[in-house]
Amino acid sequence: MASFNTPHGASREPDAAVRTHLPESSEGFAESLLRLEDIHREKLAVCDQLEAIADSLPAEINRQRCLYAAKAIAQIVRQAHRFEETTVFPAISARFPGAPNLADTLRRLQFEHCEDEGFADELSDALHRLAAGDPRVHPETIGYMLRGFFTTVRRHIAFEREHLIGATRGLANSQS
Ligand SMILES: [Fe+2]
Repeated sequence: MASFNTPHGASREPDAAVRTHLPESSEGFAESLLRLEDIHREKLAVCDQLEAIADSLPAEINRQRCLYAAKAIAQIVRQAHRFEETTVFPAISARFPGAPNLADTLRRLQFEHCEDEGFADELSDALHRLAAGDPRVHPETIGYMLRGFFTTVRRHIAFEREHLIGATRGLANSQS
């Protein structure tokens, strides 16, 4: 049986218990993984926007792009995490209850979600101030925050693709 690895980083407890929405069929389970892949693509597109902003600093700041990214990260990150925690994670747990390391993997991913949401809020606020021309905002600091955030999110997605979606599909195939 395939095992699930544990990602790095995490220091904060999830904020609250979440209500689950389990898919009722194999098709529903497969669809939830496809939806997760769509979400990953949306998050990666936002990461690309954030990287473009970082590359534009300090001389070529596009304020519209900063405003769009400020709104997008706060919204997309939370929507993604709620879907994973209320649908994907419970569905995987229910379908593969004996998978080695699965509980640890899901717990650590949820910890990372908490960290990323806090980071996304800080970054969103900083981008709003950058777009508004706030003189107290230092481009070097924003650049550091941007690169830290999109690097972390890309790493999280790569881990979920390989060790969550990949491992789950491998288990499903071995059962069929
Ligand atoms: Fe995630």
